[in-house]
Amino acid sequence: MARLVAQRPFLRGVRALCTTSVRAESSKTHFGFRTVDEDAKESLVGGVFSSVASSYDMMNDAMSLGIHRLWKNRFVELLDPRSGIKCLDVAGGTGDIALRILDHARQAHCDRETSVTVLDINPKMLIEGQKRVKQSMYWNTPQIKFQLGNAEALDQVMAVPERKNPVASTVRNPILPPLVSEPIASESVDLYTIAFGIRNCTHIDRVIAEAYRVLKPGGIFAVLEFGKVSVPLLAQIYRQYSFNVIPHLGQLLAGDRDSYQYLIESIERFPTQPEFARMVADAGFMLPGTPETAHMGLPRLGGACSTGNGAWEDLSLGIATIWMGIKPFA
Ligand SMILES: C[S@@+](CC[C@H](N)C(=O)[O-])C[C@H]1O[C@@H](n2cnc3c(N)ncnc32)[C@H](O)[C@@H]1O
Repeated sequence: MARLVAQRPFLRGVRALCTTSVRAESSKTHFGFRTVDEDAKESLVGGVFSSVASSYDMMNDAMSLGIHRLWKNRFVELLDPRSGIKCLDVAGGTGDIALRILDHARQAHCDRETSVTVLDINPKMLIEGQKRVKQSMYWNTPQIKFQLGNAEALDQVMAVPERKNPVASTVRNPILPPLVSEPIASESVDLYTIAFGIRNCTHIDRVIAEAYRVLKPGGIFAVLEFGKVSVPLLAQIYRQYSFNVIPHLGQLLAGDRDSYQYLIESIERFPTQPEFARMVADAGFMLPGTPETAHMGLPRLGGACSTGNGAWEDLSLGIATIWMGIKPFA
C-alpha cells in the first residue's frame, strides 16, 4: 500500500474546535434508548461488555443463528489482507475479526507476516480473546497482540488493571500474557477494522478521526456494523424479533436481559447507511465507488448514496452493513 499524504492540520484544528464546542453545549448522549451524561456512557457500556464477555461468542451465534460468521467472512474477504500488512482491529473484543484476518492472509496468500493488534476498552473481552488465541496457531507469534485502549483516543495510554489470580503456567496451559496499553502512532497502520463496535462509542466522530490519524496514506478504514433494513416488511419483522426475542435469549442463555436489551437499542440509535458514509467522507476519507477512487483497486461494494455509488454494502438486506474509506495520498 502506498505512502504519504494528506496532512490536514487545518481541518484537524477546525474539527477539534467543533468537537470542543459541541461538548460544551451538550453533555448528554444516549445509552440505548436512555439519555445519560456523556461521562457515564463509557462505564455503562463497560458494564455491559464485562457482563457478557464470557458468553459473548456463544450469544452471537444464538442471536444471529450463526449468520454473523458469514458477515464477518464477507468483511474480511472484501478486505483481502495480505503482503505482511499491519492491521488494527479496534473494539476487537474476543478476536473474531483478527483471527479471520490472519486465517485469510495465510490461506489465500500463504502470508504469515500480516499482523493484527486487537484493541479494546474492556479487559474482560480481551482476556476472552487471549484464551481463544491460545487454542490457535497464532499463539505466541508476533502476528497477534492484545492491547487495552479507547477507540476515541488511540494516542493515550489506559491504566491496565492487575490480573487477579493468574492461571498457573504449564506447557498445555500457558499463562496469558499481560495486557498492555500503548499509544498508536500516527500513520502506522495499513488496515483499520472495527466490527460491531463503533455504535457503542460515545463520540463516533472522534473514533473516525482517530482512524484517520493512525492510518497510513492509502490505508483502509473498514467498518462492519448493524445497518437499517431496506425492505419495510422485513424491517418490521426484524424489529419484532430483536425486541421480543433477543433480551429473552440473553436472560435464558447468559442470565443477562438488560445487556442484550441495550445492545438492540443501540442498533436502533446508530446512523443510517448514507448518514454514516457521510461521516466517513467528512473525516477526510475517500469513499469507494467515487470517480476519484475508481483507479485505486478498492473492493467494489454494493449500495448507493449521495456521496457516490458503492460507498457501502448491505448484508442480509441491511441487517448488517460494511462501509469503507481510504485515506488519501497527498
Ligand atoms: C459487540 S462487541 C464486538 C466485538 C468484536 N469486534 C466482534 O465483532 O465480535 C463491541 C466491543 O466494543 C468494545 N468497545 C466499546 N466501546 C469502546 C471504545 N470506546 N473503545 C474500544 N472498544 C470499545 C467493547 O468492549 C466490546 O468488546
